[in-house]
Amino acid sequence: MMLRVQNLSVEYPHTQLGHVLRNLSFEAKAGERIALLGANGAGKSTLLLSLLGVLPIHAGSVEVCGVKLEKSTQAELRARAGLVFQNPDDQLFMGTVWEDVLFGPLNYGWDKADDGTKLVDKAALLLRSLGISHLKDRMSHKLSGGEKRLAALATVLIMEPQVLLLDEPTAFLDPRGKRTLTKILAALPQTMLIATHDTAFVETLSSRAIVLNKGSIRADGPVESILHNEQLLEECGL
Ligand SMILES: Nc1ncnc2c1ncn2[C@@H]1O[C@H](COP(=O)(O)OP(=O)(O)OP(=O)(O)O)[C@@H](O)[C@H]1O
Ligand SMILES: [Mg+2]
Repeated sequence: MMLRVQNLSVEYPHTQLGHVLRNLSFEAKAGERIALLGANGAGKSTLLLSLLGVLPIHAGSVEVCGVKLEKSTQAELRARAGLVFQNPDDQLFMGTVWEDVLFGPLNYGWDKADDGTKLVDKAALLLRSLGISHLKDRMSHKLSGGEKRLAALATVLIMEPQVLLLDEPTAFLDPRGKRTLTKILAALPQTMLIATHDTAFVETLSSRAIVLNKGSIRADGPVESILHNEQLLEECGL
């Protein structure tokens, strides 16, 4: 199992909100692309952050590629599971796109194992495959929304994570950018958990969806039947 979440409950420290995620359990097999649906505030981003140990787990457990999330395994799990944030500005902070893309691998010391040229070749190839080679030397924070989105994706893909966590990946993208992204994701082998409000995107990319409602899993099943269950969607504010 690539991802195993058991009875997970999470709350934000120092708030009166109580459990923002309540007793969630699900598993993801290798190569599965699961859409994570739910109204604003349902807990999608919180779940993705929790899977990386960004938020303290109040109860339950998370396993990525058979490794249980704990303080001592957090760094390892962050290399195995890569999160593309809802807001690209949270991901891009080094200066240029190129510096941002190289930051993760260099931070893990991954240029030292191989000869440094390998990393830059890999980064150049990745930017080309995402269609953003021309942005290489631009300042990340001065890019357009869609350009930032693809640059943020590059900073995660360069790490070659086994699990990809994507938070609203189509936000800010124009129709062509969306098509490019859909094609790129469809060709990737990774297990994916994709939080999104974009149903057309979901239908193309995923066969399974998990619906969150107020921090609990309300449904988990085939995308088709979930997107056609009007009562369910209505009840979950979708
Ligand atoms: N940093 C935070 N501190 C305290 N509470 C937070 C924080 N971030 C989110 N929350 C609360 O946690 C709940 C779940 O929020 P979350 O961001 O996970 O929702 P979401 O499903 O991603 O929504 P959206 O579709 O708007 O992105 C909400 O009630 C939200 O107000
Ligand atoms: Mg969110």
